[in-house]
Amino acid sequence: MKNLVILTGAGISAESGIKTFRDHDGLWENHDVMEVASIEGWHKNPALVLEFYNQRRKQAATVFPNTAHEYLATLEKDFNTHIITQNVDDLHERGGSKQVTHLHGKLSEIKSSFHSDYCKDIGGDEIQLGDTCPDGHQLRPNIVWFGEEVPMLDKAAKICETADIFVIIGTSLQVYPAAGLIYHIPSQCPVFIIDPKVDEINIPNHYTCIKSSAVDGIKILDHHLKKLL
Ligand code: APR
Repeated sequence: MKNLVILTGAGISAESGIKTFRDHDGLWENHDVMEVASIEGWHKNPALVLEFYNQRRKQAATVFPNTAHEYLATLEKDFNTHIITQNVDDLHERGGSKQVTHLHGKLSEIKSSFHSDYCKDIGGDEIQLGDTCPDGHQLRPNIVWFGEEVPMLDKAAKICETADIFVIIGTSLQVYPAAGLIYHIPSQCPVFIIDPKVDEINIPNHYTCIKSSAVDGIKILDHHLKKLL
């Protein structure tokens, strides 16, 4: 079986009802992204950040995988499929995908705000200021914020290097180091990108562009993939 590697971003979850980051004048769910998704924002106002992610966890229970998430899971019968996602939702897993690497953490997980290996899945529950983990430190979301290292980056880069076919769906490729993963794609590997704003994204010109939403774009992608089986 060929290795199919798929890099996804906020756009794949848009049709499930989760807002993207950069389509709304720099606001994410009415907040400045740097206020709620940076290490500086956390230090400045941890209560606001905790409440923001409490709301996102609550919202996660109200959304469902769309046909793009579900389609990617069906590819596992024909390809050794690995998804690398920048999304913190679990819609790929709920859509049926088995091999998913979360570059920017997971919404349902919490960890210590101090360096430690403590990490726990709390599903849709809330955390508040004063909630601590066994080491006594404040709990925080297990999200990789701006200004923080991306622990899964090396693993993700190695996965990209194994690709026979590469697909990119719903990411503006503006945020590094995640965006730099495309430089780990082997040079002969066919690359497909699905995004309604694909012509605004800075990508190498040999990529096959599918300018449409994820849900519509997968139908075109499917024709291409059948020829590469
Ligand atoms: N289907 C496919 N793509 C879509 C759709 C859709 N229905 N709707 C919007 N898009 C595209 C947009 O055109 C845009 O190119 O999805 C992309 C979303 O880009 P961003 O909002 O920048 O999201 P992403 O690339 O995932 O952001 C990367 O930035 O804020 C941080 O950590 C956060 O993981 C996030 C990272």
